[in-house]
Amino acid sequence: MGFNSRCWCIVISILTIITAVIVVCVYFTNPSDPAFTINEFYVSALNLSDISSTTTTTNQTMFFDMKLHNQNKAMGAYYDPVKIIFSYIPNIKLTFVVAEYTVPKFYQRNQKSKHVIATVTSRGIAPYNRTVTSSVFKVEVLTKVGFTTPANRKKRRVSVVANVRVGQTGERDSKKGIRLFESGVGDGFGGLSIKILMLILSTTTILIIT
Ligand SMILES: *[C@@H]1O[C@H](CO)[C@@H](O)[C@H](O)[C@H]1NC(C)=O
Ligand SMILES: *[C@@H]1O[C@H](CO)[C@@H](O)[C@H](O)[C@H]1NC(C)=O
Ligand SMILES: *[C@@H]1O[C@H](CO)[C@@H](O)[C@H](O)[C@H]1NC(C)=O
Repeated sequence: MGFNSRCWCIVISILTIITAVIVVCVYFTNPSDPAFTINEFYVSALNLSDISSTTTTTNQTMFFDMKLHNQNKAMGAYYDPVKIIFSYIPNIKLTFVVAEYTVPKFYQRNQKSKHVIATVTSRGIAPYNRTVTSSVFKVEVLTKVGFTTPANRKKRRVSVVANVRVGQTGERDSKKGIRLFESGVGDGFGGLSIKILMLILSTTTILIIT
């Protein structure tokens, strides 16, 4: 009888500790930054067969489709205004901003996607640039994102970038979506993940001792 109740006691305390660890993990878990993907990209001025662009005034229309995706399973995301900056890189030495677009701030539920499909007017893309077989554009996204869990409510900076190659049709030359990747150093959650590690470590230590 005495042995049995002691046994149960240990089982229950182990289960309690495991539950506590799970709760702590869920509460403090690192949210993933939203994923930004370029699905469509078209520059009229670089379309070799677009007659309207060979005349004196170049057609400076640019079209894009960008997917903004909240990857988190259990957290909604609050976006600050999302700034999208398009730069043209005609050669290694030269990069200039040709267009900008801002998505107003919005809320996105867990694992939801938003497509930003828009036409922007670019500046400074010359028709003679079309003679090159492929041109490179830099697409940058700057915003701040916070999440619905109390520990991650504070918005943090998100800065991602990708290069998009455009062929002589004016369209991007890859079929697959282009995922933007992190650039530079943000004020990420590196410190917090160490804290979680310490928490789990100390909990397991307690588990072993008791
Ligand atoms: C390029 O321009 C031609 C002529 O205006 C047009 O028919 C074609 O659809 C354009 N290409 C793309 C990818 O839109
Ligand atoms: C410029 O190109 C866009 C997209 O191809 C087209 O819709 C528009 O009519 C063109 N503008 C002119 C002035 O040709
Ligand atoms: C493309 O255009 C820019 C400015 O319009 C120019 O400085 C650059 O030299 C051009 N590049 C090529 C390869 O023609």
